[in-house]
Amino acid sequence: MHMGNEELMEIVDLWNLKPKIREKIHQLLAENLPESPPHLFRYYGPEPGKVVQLEREFALKSGARYALAVNSGTSALIAALVACGIGPGDEVIVPAYTFFATASAAVVARAIPVIAEVDETLTLDPEDVRRKLTSQTKAIMPVHMRGLPADMDALMEIARESGLKIIEDVAQACGGRYRGRWLGTFGDAGCFSFDFYKIVASGEGGMVVTDDEEVYIRAQSYHDTAACWRPDRYAREKMPGELFCGENYRMSEVHGAIALAQLRKLDGYLERCRKNKKLLTERLESLRGVQLQPVNDPDGDAAQCLILFAPTAERAREMIDNLHLEGVPAGGIYDKTVRDWHIYTYWEHILERKTPTPEGCPYTCPHYQGRLPEYHPEMCPRTLDLLSRTVHIAISPDWEEDRIEDVAGKIARALKGG
Ligand SMILES: Cc1ncc(COP(=O)(O)O)c(C=O)c1O
Repeated sequence: MHMGNEELMEIVDLWNLKPKIREKIHQLLAENLPESPPHLFRYYGPEPGKVVQLEREFALKSGARYALAVNSGTSALIAALVACGIGPGDEVIVPAYTFFATASAAVVARAIPVIAEVDETLTLDPEDVRRKLTSQTKAIMPVHMRGLPADMDALMEIARESGLKIIEDVAQACGGRYRGRWLGTFGDAGCFSFDFYKIVASGEGGMVVTDDEEVYIRAQSYHDTAACWRPDRYAREKMPGELFCGENYRMSEVHGAIALAQLRKLDGYLERCRKNKKLLTERLESLRGVQLQPVNDPDGDAAQCLILFAPTAERAREMIDNLHLEGVPAGGIYDKTVRDWHIYTYWEHILERKTPTPEGCPYTCPHYQGRLPEYHPEMCPRTLDLLSRTVHIAISPDWEEDRIEDVAGKIARALKGG
């Protein structure tokens, strides 16, 4: 009887093997997956195709038990929230600095987003999360912005104490780590984006990772309402909560093939970014008057940028102008005159509780027993103060050492100038 690699992997999972041994066997089996003939749809293929291979390698690299490829980071967030049982009546805490999709995913899942401050790490401030907890809080969504790890120790502790779910938004930090573990593997689910701007980019795409079989099954259910993901597609449900009406968030084989090729370059890319950020940081640390951003676990930082804080917003703008004159790829994050959906003040969809139909769900949902948050543009002043004083320098993986010296020298000159 022929046994496919998938079946072999399932058998391996049944043994109570040490994680390292299980990973190694998975790796060997994944490497031996047969090359499939070109096939555009991930299901019904003659052999497991590119999306399956991507999921296998992603699970292996991240250390998560399950990985489910989807068609965007937003889809990943929505599917993960639904899979974790978040819905009507629930509040979900999101940071004031993140792409709007984090908060909108909560609304699409029919929960109420509660906006909390970020701290100097530009990720969720655990103290403010504590202040925002209510009896309706069901989940926290840490976002690892610009490759920077959130304070997972503190956030996991809050979640444990209060029995909350954690859904990590790792859209901007694929391959980032915290205390040696991949970001996205701390919470109940981790959500990645492979859109055009991301570290692993396939044009569009995303991934949900989890260690929880039930979350995985429910995420599959939501991501493919046609249930092609089920080996016995039309069978009755095998556990309560397995089958319900979902969406179509399936990843195509074309996107899977591109994401897979990109994923295989991830380690080298991150190594170069990390090396360059470290060298640049070392050169700037000795400069007087430079306030470098503190990073939760610098070794895990995906090193996409180096951030400095100026004493005032005006000084930050001057520094950015000086850096531009020096030819350094610098920018600010928040400027009152520039609309940007990464900053909560511009999320009118949320602040004004806009909904596609006039009934106003989820804000008017009778299952919601709490007091609706009072959304307004000044509600997170610390976040606005920090973001307005930020000088953001993009790190290039292609810089050689002499270019880093050059950039450091230009930053030193730009900081003195003005
Ligand atoms: C922090 C964050 N979350 C979620 C998303 C949504 O990802 P996608 O564009 O793949 O839907 C993005 C994309 O910009 C993001 O930056």
